[in-house]
Amino acid sequence: MAKKQAPKIIMVSNRGAYNLQATDSGIQPVPAISGLVSAVEPFLKEKGGVWVAWGGREAPQENSPGVRLPVPQEDPAYTFLEVPLTAGEIKLYYQGFTNGALWPLCHYFLEKCRYNSQEWSTYVRVNAKFAEAALMEAREGDTVWVNDYHLALVPAQIRHRKPQLKQFFFWHIPFPHHDLLATLPWAPQILRGLLGTDVVGFHLQSYVDNFLNAVATLLGARVDFEHNVVYWQQRRIHAGAWPMGVDYQAFQRQALNPETRARAETLRCQFGVEHLALSVERLDYTKGILERLLAWERLLEEVPEWRGRAALVQIAVPSRTAVPAYRRLKEEVEAAVGRINGRFSEGSYRPVHYFWRGLPRQELVAYYLAADIMLVTPLRDGLNLVAKEYVASRRDSSGVLVLSRFAGAAQELKGAVLVNPYDIDGMAMILNTALNMGRAEQEKRMRLLQEKVRRHDIRWWLTCFHQAMIAREEETADVSGS
Ligand code: G6P
Repeated sequence: MAKKQAPKIIMVSNRGAYNLQATDSGIQPVPAISGLVSAVEPFLKEKGGVWVAWGGREAPQENSPGVRLPVPQEDPAYTFLEVPLTAGEIKLYYQGFTNGALWPLCHYFLEKCRYNSQEWSTYVRVNAKFAEAALMEAREGDTVWVNDYHLALVPAQIRHRKPQLKQFFFWHIPFPHHDLLATLPWAPQILRGLLGTDVVGFHLQSYVDNFLNAVATLLGARVDFEHNVVYWQQRRIHAGAWPMGVDYQAFQRQALNPETRARAETLRCQFGVEHLALSVERLDYTKGILERLLAWERLLEEVPEWRGRAALVQIAVPSRTAVPAYRRLKEEVEAAVGRINGRFSEGSYRPVHYFWRGLPRQELVAYYLAADIMLVTPLRDGLNLVAKEYVASRRDSSGVLVLSRFAGAAQELKGAVLVNPYDIDGMAMILNTALNMGRAEQEKRMRLLQEKVRRHDIRWWLTCFHQAMIAREEETADVSGS
């Protein structure tokens, strides 16, 4: 008799922990850096399972099969299963519907949204490809965990074929108010898609509220707002707010590493100023890079004593470069950097150091250690893990976190200096305060922040989800047993 396999996790997301690259020795998985990866990969490494994702490359042919690889290569722990996408699908589904419609919509950039029915139909088709790949892997007792706005239809597509399969969904970006969502011609389909899951998670309760209001208003679903439950097609769907954490101990260890510390010292000497401010993010219009540069420029205009003494290091990680809005932003950011440096450079002093590249983890932590103030000032952000990473890396509890009130993390991170990134003058004055903050005040705030980030770390986040799923299973058992 065939041995019954232990239940496994099938992770599904548009981008996984690896991008696939064709080399002379065949297809190689190249690690991808993102918050989602650092959050869920340790879980898969520990428990095993399958990660179904696009490999970030153009499929060689229309019907090319997806690559299946044991990963990490040096010590395989789970399977990476590629969902191959053609050039047309990448254009219409990834650059088009997900990043030209859903992304700006969920971040309240209505003027950037482009709604196109061909892009929508490709989104439906690509979601079905992901669902099919997950279904091929799923056996009785397995759990499918789907992530993010790229794959909102997958839960219902799976539910339709395998109604008993356990499903999680985590929405990693803001969930907009239903008035805004209603501008999307296919909003009801998106909501019906999500309601295929058993448990749906968001970073904040306000996103949960927006989701519950949307299903009530746009679908007429019955909702128990007190318990975050939706009643839909004879099923109960539980929603919950679980803000993602970071691996606090791993950042602390990295910050203790002598090589990292030496590198931080070198960076400080290289930039050669008394006060170093740092920003790190994907080059994305939601991140408020331009507004921050304007505030930095205003600070140097209004408070000239910072000229020659304070510099901003802006690391902008290349992102979605085929989407026109991202290309335009790059030009605008680079023009602003050029203007500010042209106005305020003096001898070897540069007020802004701009890098258009990503950084490996160790180098990133060296920058976190070198920075006296960390500027995380998005116009809108689902949560923001960079803010938590900075806090987790500050071993001596010095440093100031300047955080946008429109970053989801602002709700948790009491102790940060909050700013409104739309108010350039106000932001410039807050930068001045942050640069002047004394050591005792810095430590008081940083300890508060560290306590929060340490307690609500990545293990806490995974446990929350796990418990929600167990509660859901017990409830199902009660219903079927009664
Ligand atoms: C956000 C999304 C992720 C996405 C990441 C990078 O954090 O929530 O799902 O993977 O941005 O964007 P990209 O388009 O490069 O995958």
